[in-house]
Amino acid sequence: MLNIQIKEVESNTVLPIRQKVLRDGKALEFCKMPGDDDNSTIHLGVYFNNVLAGIATLMIDDHPDFSFKNSQLRLRGMAVLPDYQKKQLGNLLLEKAIQIAKSQNYKILWFNAREIAVGFYQKFGFSIKGNVFIIEDVGPHFLMYKSL
Ligand SMILES: CC(C)(COP(=O)(O)OP(=O)(O)OC[C@H]1O[C@@H](n2cnc3c(N)ncnc32)[C@H](O)[C@@H]1OP(=O)(O)O)[C@@H](O)C(=O)NCCC(=O)NCCS
Repeated sequence: MLNIQIKEVESNTVLPIRQKVLRDGKALEFCKMPGDDDNSTIHLGVYFNNVLAGIATLMIDDHPDFSFKNSQLRLRGMAVLPDYQKKQLGNLLLEKAIQIAKSQNYKILWFNAREIAVGFYQKFGFSIKGNVFIIEDVGPHFLMYKSL
């Protein structure tokens, strides 16, 4: 029987999937993000039959384009291993992230989305704010958010 679980994990646990899916195999140090080890940061892992197949990180970070201050949560490093994509694991991670953000009374969940993933986030009610911008070495992105 299929066994899918979402758990909070340590910051180091998410690095290999970030490395593989988001950082083109670059060294693990390059896969760390500022704020990864803050007490308030939450790293999520989705396990598919006990294999860590996807990850996402939630951290407190105010984006200047939103008027709410001290009530924004940022989603970062969302990734599902290629062999496990299109199995609703990204959906589950996103649902969990929204649930956590709501339960902690944040007003906005936001992130910089890769252009290729915009359609995925729109499916779950996230909106684009502003114009496309380029993140060096990664490519075109959009600021996306959901009011909670
Ligand atoms: C984007 C990503 C996280 C989606 O995870 P996933 O587990 O493959 O997605 P799911 O299976 O949960 O998809 C849920 C729905 O979104 C759709 N979807 C998935 N990826 C999509 C995309 N890139 N564009 C549009 N729709 C997408 C699926 O078809 C599915 O639709 P359905 O419910 O009608 O069948 C994953 O493909 C990934 O890690 N991609 C590479 C890294 C990346 O781009 N990360 C995002 C950085 S901002």
